[in-house]
Amino acid sequence: GAPVEVDIGGLEPGKLITVEWRGKPVWILHRTDAMLASLKDHDALLADPSSRQSEQPRQAANPARSLKPPFLVLIGICTHLGCVPTFRPEPGSPDLGAAWPGGFYCPCHGSRFDLAGRVFKNVPAPANLVVPDYRYIGESRLLIG
Ligand code: FES
Repeated sequence: GAPVEVDIGGLEPGKLITVEWRGKPVWILHRTDAMLASLKDHDALLADPSSRQSEQPRQAANPARSLKPPFLVLIGICTHLGCVPTFRPEPGSPDLGAAWPGGFYCPCHGSRFDLAGRVFKNVPAPANLVVPDYRYIGESRLLIG
């Protein structure tokens, strides 16, 4: 499929948009400073905190899993059986627990991912959410694919 160009200039901090690429949902999340800070707190709870067994472009093999730290680009498909996880950015929640740091929750079988798409331990999903190939073609323009 053809690459998809996305203008993220109007994407406010904390907001997520979904675009379609190769028939798949791709999320672009503008993480706030608090969201980025939250990524540092819970490595011990993650199955693959350094993304060694996970799929991402080499330039995004870093703790934020992105080319520019605020902007997260992920394929929005659970690495278990392919459901679309829900965006649950608020830390702490009645159903996900007080320790929930904010992230993505798959309603099909309960897999949990943080705000870098990194999977928590003891859930069915075997790997972090996939970061697709992408690059910046301008200050606020992305080319996905
Ligand atoms: Fe997401 Fe099974 S498809 S937990």
